[in-house]
Amino acid sequence: MNGRSDFAQRLIDWHRDHGRHDLPWQRTNDPYRVWLSEIMLQQTQVDTVIPYYARFLARFPDIAALAAAPLDDVLALWSGLGYYARARNLHKAARAVIDDHGGCFPSRADGIAELPGIGRSTAAAIAAFSFGERAAILDGNVKRVLCRAFGVDGFPGERTVETRLWELAESLLPAADVGTYIQAQMDLGATVCTRGRPACDRCPLAESCVARREDRVASLPAARPRKAVPQRHVRVAVIQSDGRVLLERRPPAGIWGGLLALPEIPESETEPARWLEARFGVVLRSSLALPPLHHAFTHFRLEILPIRFEVGEGRLVADDTHRWLALADLDSAGLPTPVRRILDGCFAAVRPGDQAGIEDSRAPQSP
Ligand code: ADE
Repeated sequence: MNGRSDFAQRLIDWHRDHGRHDLPWQRTNDPYRVWLSEIMLQQTQVDTVIPYYARFLARFPDIAALAAAPLDDVLALWSGLGYYARARNLHKAARAVIDDHGGCFPSRADGIAELPGIGRSTAAAIAAFSFGERAAILDGNVKRVLCRAFGVDGFPGERTVETRLWELAESLLPAADVGTYIQAQMDLGATVCTRGRPACDRCPLAESCVARREDRVASLPAARPRKAVPQRHVRVAVIQSDGRVLLERRPPAGIWGGLLALPEIPESETEPARWLEARFGVVLRSSLALPPLHHAFTHFRLEILPIRFEVGEGRLVADDTHRWLALADLDSAGLPTPVRRILDGCFAAVRPGDQAGIEDSRAPQSP
């Protein structure tokens, strides 16, 4: 047995005893109800969907009622389910069914897939459940089951892998009983072949499962490849005077928007001390390059190169965007973590007990 010839039959047999049979949308083949359930279930768990589904149908019992309703009423009933584009598209599609299809829901998967918000897999599920069409689905759960059962390598979101999975899904369709088969695939993915801790001992496909045989269940499907994260560099000035350090408020947009941070030295400046003197109206006595600090943001890594300066003469005016912070107040100043760490490292000698290392290894942060 290569796993292909009786794949569908095993699932159908398994579903009889172990699948889900009493979900509210399984008691109907009304395409409107099936469609609504499939859209609600796209990013939401079954248990959460059930009460929303009931309330939605009580208020909008058919496509005509949905199409006639103001969008705000539809959104209000969606409130709490999230991903509101689903509700907007549902409403738009209901209007398209009324206006362009004479109120009759399209009966074939390719026609259904032309409605707003309905992709190929969802269209196939609706066509199979409502009209018994022999159409393959390929949602996240099915991708996982297929990748494991047939040892498909590569990230399933990648076009070539996805194309291969669609071909596989099409080739596995049974001659009859497609609705049960599709529900079985969904149920197996949701209850047995789960992402973490799959229950292979209860799986009807275990005997021929490639991932199981090759001990690759945990590594299939392959994870999304990590994108190379750009590396940026910035020099910052730690300007000190009489036990205080100069902070500058950041522009409202961008990283640490609106927060106090160390002044940045433009990349093009070849003489930072002269530039800072001109900018702040002071004479700087000495400078010292400090160890760099690395900080991971979601979309890039930042290497911060601090340079420490001592003010010799002159005193900066503090205004709305500049503040001289006493070293004693560092802890309570609400500074961005990397700035805090630079200052902690810089003034460890002044504030005994603080750590001097400044590698920032926290989890990536949004800018
Ligand atoms: N997820 C998506 N469609 C589903 C369905 N018909 N039953 C259970 N879970 C689902």
